Amino acid sequence: MAIGWYPGHMATALRELKTVMNRTDVVIEVVDARLPESSANPVLRELRGQRPCIVLMNKSDLADGAVTRQWVRHFEKSAGVSALPVDARESQLARKVVKLCQTLSPQTKRACRALVVGIPNVGKSTLINTLAGKTVALVGNKPAVTRETKYVELRNGVDVWDSPGMLWPHLKDQTAAHRLAASGAIGENAYDITEIALFLIEHMVQAYPKLLMARFKLESVEGTSLALLEAIARHRACFIRKGDVDFERAAHLVTQDFRTGKLGHVSLEAPPAPSIAVEPDPAASNEAEAALAQPDEAAS
Ligand code: G4P
Repeated sequence: MAIGWYPGHMATALRELKTVMNRTDVVIEVVDARLPESSANPVLRELRGQRPCIVLMNKSDLADGAVTRQWVRHFEKSAGVSALPVDARESQLARKVVKLCQTLSPQTKRACRALVVGIPNVGKSTLINTLAGKTVALVGNKPAVTRETKYVELRNGVDVWDSPGMLWPHLKDQTAAHRLAASGAIGENAYDITEIALFLIEHMVQAYPKLLMARFKLESVEGTSLALLEAIARHRACFIRKGDVDFERAAHLVTQDFRTGKLGHVSLEAPPAPSIAVEPDPAASNEAEAALAQPDEAAS
């Protein structure tokens, strides 16, 4: 089943974003650290133009740390981009993000204006609440909780535009669409949960077989993904009636275990390997690291 999901409010949000972008100093794109490329909005890249961009790789507590480090290097090859692996629930993050915004776009007469964008369910509202130090945005585990762009004055030198979770009109890359569905970014009526669980099992067999075996007490990962899902269903007593396996319930278990990190630290994609080995340039500056290493002037 081909996955596509672009509810009407996202088209409205995209139009709003074009207007808001003109008044934005820094773009904060929140991506999912487990699928940083698939969760990065291709439309946004065109819209942001030359504005500095902070890529916050959120839910990094759920991702494979080694792969996340590769992604940071990958993102920072693009001019004007700083990448940080984060957990949006951590209160210390506010100080770091405020400082980075002010370093990337210093303002003397007014607060720096940051636009927070990202796919549904990636943690934008959690981030805004962390930045504000109180609840100003609704957090929820269903996609499309926030539906309108709103301006939030943080009173710490940075103000933010909080935009609704956005996907893009055509999910041409269906592997990326499966990663997005696995992460919970897509409305659950737009995909078949068993297909997503089989996709996750196939990935686990290739990249993290021991984690899969440990989580579901499997003796091996040989056989088809469907046979493994059946073994998982039997192990977790998912039956429709005596002897008949409930594949759908088992599929929910596998997907939920991925979303909550119970499968372990799992990344669904790694950056493309460079075609030519390039020596690192010692003179190249990492703006994010430099800003964060400086004494904390912004903290109040
Ligand atoms: P959104 O605005 O982009 O749609 O996302 P939102 O902040 O509502 O977050 C969606 C879910 O992701 C929430 O879970 C939130 O707690 C969780 N989340 C956000 N950031 C992180 C992170 O860095 N790591 C982890 N592990 N989870 C994160 P929820 O199920 O609604 O639950 P709850 O935590 O409020 O119970």
